[in-house]
Amino acid sequence: MQQTSEGHRLRSRTIGFVPTMGALHEGHISLIKRSKSENDITVVSIFVNPTQFGLNEDFDKYPKETDSDIQKLEEAGVDTLFMPDASNMYPDGFSSSITVGGLDSKLCGEFRPGHFSGVATVVCKLLNITRPARAYFGQKDFQQSVIIKRMAADLNIDCQIVVCPTIREGDGLAKSSRNSYLSAEQRAAALVIYRALNTGAEMIRAGEKDAGAVKKQMNDMLAAEPLVSEVQYASVYDPATLDELAEVKRETLLAVALRIGSTRLIDNMLVSL
Ligand code: PAF
Repeated sequence: MQQTSEGHRLRSRTIGFVPTMGALHEGHISLIKRSKSENDITVVSIFVNPTQFGLNEDFDKYPKETDSDIQKLEEAGVDTLFMPDASNMYPDGFSSSITVGGLDSKLCGEFRPGHFSGVATVVCKLLNITRPARAYFGQKDFQQSVIIKRMAADLNIDCQIVVCPTIREGDGLAKSSRNSYLSAEQRAAALVIYRALNTGAEMIRAGEKDAGAVKKQMNDMLAAEPLVSEVQYASVYDPATLDELAEVKRETLLAVALRIGSTRLIDNMLVSL
């Protein structure tokens, strides 16, 4: 992969890079389309990164759909698929790790200790291997995108981090590889996330300044859905610092993480006034 990238760079071709863990859906394809429109070459990686999963998380059951993924990448006109295995990424003796202090302990970080170090380290490695001009991430993983932007700036990684809009199902549920874990009943219940985010956004657009009132309304809606087994967070945040807000700002992030059964789902909405 490093040699392939170097060949493109020597020919002055720009590389766009879309890192994924496979089980590709329209969200990933939208990132690929954006990359293709902005670069000469598009590289996609598929690597289910073990170091970003906690002990009791879904690493072992994470969906693996390599054949259909490859077909989707061919149809999307991707130039190169990079599919390393764990022993190449983390050979014996591997001992480095990137911590993006502060940002990584908020929101999901509180419930997934070590997760963002795993993400930052693997993304740094993938960027060093593929050396892209631009790398594409979805807004659905908002905190991940903030952390990766911070890491790229702090470590002088010469790559533009591009964050693309969340792609949703027709009824509003954010596309996610983990949606496949949901039963039909749970899938219907999961819509409460989009409804709560929309209600929060409407309150803000209608002039609500009290972030506590928005948070309460969102949490009341989520609590009213019987299939929601745990709300990890649902509140109003500063999109730059990820701090919880007492008062709505010009740019406000509404974000939710919850479980339906054992499936953990996240979603968010940016509201600009
Ligand atoms: O968003 C994901 O799919 C993963 O966190 C990423 C960026 C591919 C790193 O493993």
